[in-house]
Amino acid sequence: MSRIFINYRRQDSEGYVGRLYDHLIRHFERDDIFMDVDSIKPGADFVQTLEDAVAACDVFIAIIGPQWLHAVTESGERRLDQWNDFVRIEISSALRQNKLVIPVLVGRAKMPSPSQLPDEINPLARRNAIELSHNHFSHDVEKLANIIKESVPANPSFKPRATNEVLRRKEAALKAVRLDLVNATTSPLYSFRVENRLFPVIGEGSPDANILFIGEAPGKTEAEQGRPFCGPSGTVLDEMLETISLKREDVFLTNILLDRPPAKREPTPEELAFYTPFVDRIVDIIQPAVIATLGRFAMQYILKKLDLPEKRQTITQLHGKLIKTHIHYGEIHVVPLFHPAVVLYSASQKDTLRQDFQKLRLFL
Ligand code: URA
Repeated sequence: MSRIFINYRRQDSEGYVGRLYDHLIRHFERDDIFMDVDSIKPGADFVQTLEDAVAACDVFIAIIGPQWLHAVTESGERRLDQWNDFVRIEISSALRQNKLVIPVLVGRAKMPSPSQLPDEINPLARRNAIELSHNHFSHDVEKLANIIKESVPANPSFKPRATNEVLRRKEAALKAVRLDLVNATTSPLYSFRVENRLFPVIGEGSPDANILFIGEAPGKTEAEQGRPFCGPSGTVLDEMLETISLKREDVFLTNILLDRPPAKREPTPEELAFYTPFVDRIVDIIQPAVIATLGRFAMQYILKKLDLPEKRQTITQLHGKLIKTHIHYGEIHVVPLFHPAVVLYSASQKDTLRQDFQKLRLFL
């Protein structure tokens, strides 16, 4: 499944785009090709709406026709220079989000040079373009379709629906993990848990989830209730899940520490060493196709566990990326995400988190 966003200027290339669409649907599902962002509601931030639409795609096709560069508004100003030009906003958003951006030349248009473009879409000029010629249209679209199929983070893994028997077995295995932890008096957080009448937090959700979220550690509310993400970070997480039409019951939520550490402090190496074998057991039971890590502790652990080359990179470098690899039960994608708590301290991070969550739509 490759989600393809076609960016074009109506008065420049509408005819070509219609023809391109008719050819592309021979290679891809109709629902995976987006041409026009659905009506933007009154009062909505249209820039954000366009950004979200771009975030949901894997491949961004920028159609460049003969009028693309010089098209003007009614008052004679170049459209590309206008801050609210949809074409410009979408291209700049795709470049910023590191999408695969393919310029597609139609109507004998030439690729613009960097000096002809506004700064924010200037890198478009460096992208290798493909031309759709009038005489070889089908052949050229086929070439484009093959490029898309080869370059997209292809065939994100999906799991077949588990039978009731499998679900029962997995539920029982998760209960066993909980019981082992309850009785593990050697845990570095055992006395803190018992003295404060707290619960361990194994996790919650579908025992056969396609997507497993791993956070940092239960907070006070979570440890009092024995459930993950039921405090303020959980409210943010629920909101993010809602943006991609997911419910908690569709995924599994756990943490890299399964007991609350005192005084909101970060996990210690000793605690990580104790709890991560339990987390490994949870991964092995659920066998997710996607592990979405929330925050740097879970990210570092999973990247190291899977011995990925990205293990030395920071969360600032890796957030929102899809990292495809193998685990003993098959193919898996790791998606590092910021921890929802960042939104509690910095509202501006909410947009980033929301955009990164859009990546998970590939696996729904
Ligand atoms: N923060 C986490 O990392 N996990 C929780 O369960 C709650 C808050």
